[in-house]
Amino acid sequence: MKSAIVLAAGKGTRMKSALNKVMHPVCNKPMIGHIVSALKKCDVEKIVVVVGHGAEDVKEYLKDDVMYALQSPQLGTGHAVMQASQLEGSDGDTIILCGDGPLIQPETIQKAFEENKEYSLTVLTSVLPDGERYGRIVRDAAGNVEKIVEAKDCTPEELEIKEINTGIFCFKTKELFEGLKEIRNDNAQSEYYITDLVEIFNKKGLKGHAMIVDDPEETMGVNDRVDLAKAQKWMKRRINERHMYNGVTIIDPEHTYIDADVEIGQDTVIYPNVFLQEHTRIGNNVTILPNSFLRNAEIADDVTIDSSKIVESKVGKGSTVGPMSHLRNQTEICENCRIGNFVEFKNSHFGNGSKCAHLTYIGDSDFGERINVGCGVVTVNYDGKHKFRTTVKDGAFIGSNCNLIAPVTIGENALLAAGSTITDSVQDGDMGIARSRQSIKPGFGTKYKNK
Ligand code: UD1
Ligand code: CA
Repeated sequence: MKSAIVLAAGKGTRMKSALNKVMHPVCNKPMIGHIVSALKKCDVEKIVVVVGHGAEDVKEYLKDDVMYALQSPQLGTGHAVMQASQLEGSDGDTIILCGDGPLIQPETIQKAFEENKEYSLTVLTSVLPDGERYGRIVRDAAGNVEKIVEAKDCTPEELEIKEINTGIFCFKTKELFEGLKEIRNDNAQSEYYITDLVEIFNKKGLKGHAMIVDDPEETMGVNDRVDLAKAQKWMKRRINERHMYNGVTIIDPEHTYIDADVEIGQDTVIYPNVFLQEHTRIGNNVTILPNSFLRNAEIADDVTIDSSKIVESKVGKGSTVGPMSHLRNQTEICENCRIGNFVEFKNSHFGNGSKCAHLTYIGDSDFGERINVGCGVVTVNYDGKHKFRTTVKDGAFIGSNCNLIAPVTIGENALLAAGSTITDSVQDGDMGIARSRQSIKPGFGTKYKNK
C-alpha cells in the first residue's frame, strides 16, 4: 500500500505573512494543493497532512480529500512525522513530502516508490552549485549515504558538500515508525529531525540509498517570497510547455498565466497577458486575444474571446465575445452567438445565434434563439430589494436603448421599439412601444441659434 505524509505545520517565519506558508499560491493554487494533486495522480491511498500553524485554513481548503494529524507544539520535522499515527501499523511504503515543496512531479513520486521497493529508505537528493541552507548528504568512502547534517550543524568541511537533502523520503512504513522512537533533539535547533533516521537505519542495518533528482528546481523548498517567485516561474514554464507540446500556440509564454488544472484543445491560440484560472476548459481552435481573464470558464470550439472577463460561465461553439465584455455567475452563451463591445451578462441564458453587440446589461434573464439585442439595452432586474427574471423568446427584436423592467416576458418574434421602457409583457408577434410621441416645432432651431 502507498501512503504519504505531508508536513505542513511549520510557521514559515521567513515568509513574513499572516497566511500559513503552505497556503501561499503558486500559479494561483496553494502549494499544499499542488502536492496533494501530485499524490492523487500516483494513486496514493492514505494521505496524512500534518497541520499546526494555520491548521484551520489548510483543512478548509483540502476538506475531506486527506486525513489530518495535529502537531502542537511544532518540535521539528521528525516530531511532525510522529503525529501521523493513522499510518502506524500500515503495510507498504510511505513517502514524506514537505508542504513547502510545491513543484514535485507525479513521475518523481512514482519513481521514489519504485526505487524503495528494494530498500528500507530512499532519500531524494539533488546537487546544487552551493548547498545553501539545505541539509547536506554525507556519504562514506564506498559512496553509501551515511547521514544527513543540517546546514546549522555542519562542520566547515561538510558545508562544502554539494549534494543536499530535498526533504523528500520514502520509507517502509513499519520501519519508519520503529525508527521514529529513536530520534533525539540534541542539535543546534533542539528539534526532532526526520533526517536523523538515515543514521538510525544504518545502525539497525536497514538498507537505505539516495535517489538523485535531475532538476534541482523541482524539489526546491519555498522559504521566503523570493523562493515563491522562483517556484512560480518554474511552474508557469512547465504548464505552458505542456500545452504547447499538446498543440496550443502560446504567443508569449513569459506573459501567459495558466493554472495547473486548466484544459486546452488543439490549435487554440493564446495572445499575451491572458489569465486562465482554476478549472477553465477551452476547446479546439479557440482564439483568446490579449488581456482576457477566465476563471472556471467553459469555452467550446471555434470561439474568439477579445479582452474580456469570463467567470463561472460557458460560451458555445462558434461564438465571439468582446472586446471588453464580462460574463459572470453561471451565464451560458450558446452556439454562434455574438457578444460584442462592453456587454455584461449575469446569470443569464442566451440561445443559439442570438446577438448582443454593444453596450448592454443582461442580468437574470432567459433569452431564446436568433434574438437581436440592440445597442444600450438594459434588463432592469433589481428593485433595490429583490431580483426578478426577464424572458425573451425566439426571434424577438429588442430595439436600441430599451429598458426591460423585470419580471417581464417578450414573446416570439415580438418587436420592441427603440427607446422603450417596457413594464408589461408583449405577446408573440406583437410590438411594444413605450415612449412619448415626437412633436416638431418648425423653425425653432434657426430661431434658437440666432438668439
Ligand atoms: C528541511 C530539512 C533539510 C532539507 C530541507 C529541504 C530537516 C530537519 N531539515 O529543512 O534537511 O534540506 O527541508 O527543503 O528535516 N514542519 C512541520 N513541523 C515542524 C517543522 C517543520 O510540519 O515541527 C514542516 C514545515 O511546515 C515545512 C517542512 O516541514 O513544510 C520543512 O520544514 P522547514 O522548517 O522548512 O525545514 P528546512 O529548514 O527547510
Ligand atoms: Ca523548507
